[in-house]
Amino acid sequence: MPALSNNLTARERLIVALDVDSMEEAERLMVLLKGEVGMFKIGLELFTSVGPALFELVRKHGVKVFFDGKFHDIPNTVAGACRAAVRHNVDMFNIHALGGAKMMCQAAKATAEAAVGKTRPALIAVTILTSMDEKTLAEDLKVNVPLKKMVPYLAGLARGSGLDGVVASAQEAPAIREAVGEDFLIVTPGIRPAFAKADDQARIVTPKDAIAGGADYIVVGRPILKAESPVDAARRVVEELHGAY
Ligand code: C5P
Repeated sequence: MPALSNNLTARERLIVALDVDSMEEAERLMVLLKGEVGMFKIGLELFTSVGPALFELVRKHGVKVFFDGKFHDIPNTVAGACRAAVRHNVDMFNIHALGGAKMMCQAAKATAEAAVGKTRPALIAVTILTSMDEKTLAEDLKVNVPLKKMVPYLAGLARGSGLDGVVASAQEAPAIREAVGEDFLIVTPGIRPAFAKADDQARIVTPKDAIAGGADYIVVGRPILKAESPVDAARRVVEELHGAY
């Protein structure tokens, strides 16, 4: 069974993206925010800068880890990377649904096998990157399926391949929930708290609306990291979540 359920408190639903590029800055933020959040997200910038020692560091601070590694390769290679993620004891990590069903099935199998005797991390799929709009999908990738169909389709493919959930825009959460049912995690970035400004996010949703729309977790970066007081910002996000579910 995965370590995570969708029966969560408001604080547990908040994932803070540690979008920085050094161990020192990452640890400063961990110390500051560890009592305020459910999980820290380690993405490609920080992971490539610092490496897997980060996972141990987050665990040392008693917080869960979402490794946003977005694996996308041939099935055999992705399966190997999944086994490595399990060895590092991450709580959640992800692969691209666009790698296809075979890749996702092998990833799920490798994750389950590697986790025998320990808590299995949640394995989730990125559906379509939230930076990708319909025009880009059609012009660059020649995919002429509307996003509102493509995203729930990929969520269903991920579920059928044995994955535990998806990462998707909060705007798509209600359609995904309708397509895949209750027992499937939906993690949504692109969140802007009511008190924050939009940055470069084209499609934004507030924390409360994301959860009310069917998301289990929200991922927030800059509105917390760049706030005058990241602790206050994190608390305000958690407050915004109360009453949303
Ligand atoms: O925009 P913000 O700083 O809150 O982003 C937090 C995380 O959400 C980033 O680490 C990125 O992986 C993800 N994100 C996304 N789509 C965007 C912008 C950010 O998935 N358009």
